Amino acid sequence: MKNVAVILAAGSGSRTGLDIPKQFLMLAGKYVLEHSVDTFCAHPMIDEVTIVVSEAYLERVQNLAGERNWRKVKHIVAGGKERYHSTLAAVEAYKDEPDCNMLIHDAARPLVTTDIITKTIEAMDSYMAVDVAIPVADTIVETPDGGKTMDTVLNRSKLYAEQTPQAFRRSVLEEVYDIALKDPHFTSTDDCGTVIKYMPQVPVGIVPGSTSNIKLTFASDIPMIEWLLSNRKR
Ligand code: C5P
Repeated sequence: MKNVAVILAAGSGSRTGLDIPKQFLMLAGKYVLEHSVDTFCAHPMIDEVTIVVSEAYLERVQNLAGERNWRKVKHIVAGGKERYHSTLAAVEAYKDEPDCNMLIHDAARPLVTTDIITKTIEAMDSYMAVDVAIPVADTIVETPDGGKTMDTVLNRSKLYAEQTPQAFRRSVLEEVYDIALKDPHFTSTDDCGTVIKYMPQVPVGIVPGSTSNIKLTFASDIPMIEWLLSNRKR
């Protein structure tokens, strides 16, 4: 079965407080987005790459793909307002093709490794959906009042933090969003959450991630990510 990497880069990145989306920051000599596109393109088990960007950046990324000679990049498509709209734009791009594995990856995680990608693809032999995740290091609590006080300490041994890539059979993504979008209360932050809620019969396998597979979220993440990228290059 074909393995397709989907690089989600259509977010506005408003939490960084910068005036350009975080995936278009230049870190360690490349755009943030480029680091993961290069890692997926260089992976021998990845057959194709699809990049999802906002309308405003389509032309710029098309030009970049030409300049960088990204031979595995098959589609560059426009995403949508929410992350799941961007996932669905990639699912739609493959609607006339046989089923495939789709590895959905945040462009904002430039430190994804070849090893994580290999383990994710291998896990797709046993599951129809898998997520890269790591055990949480901090104790997590619940707050009943928006962060003024805390009332419940969660059992840390059962808690994992999700990363990406998250991989699915394309047919599972199509089916789960058919169901979910009929729910008037549907909300989502990631595709695994949608599968867990709307197709609970599909087990979601866990692939060990890495504490370095950080998502660039706040401006304060930049120095650490840039250092890790530069160090990796050396
Ligand atoms: O906002 P957040 O950091 O969770 O976004 C994770 C990834 O999803 C980012 O790489 C972002 O560009 C992408 N995204 C997207 N379309 C959206 C929202 C986020 O492709 N509508």
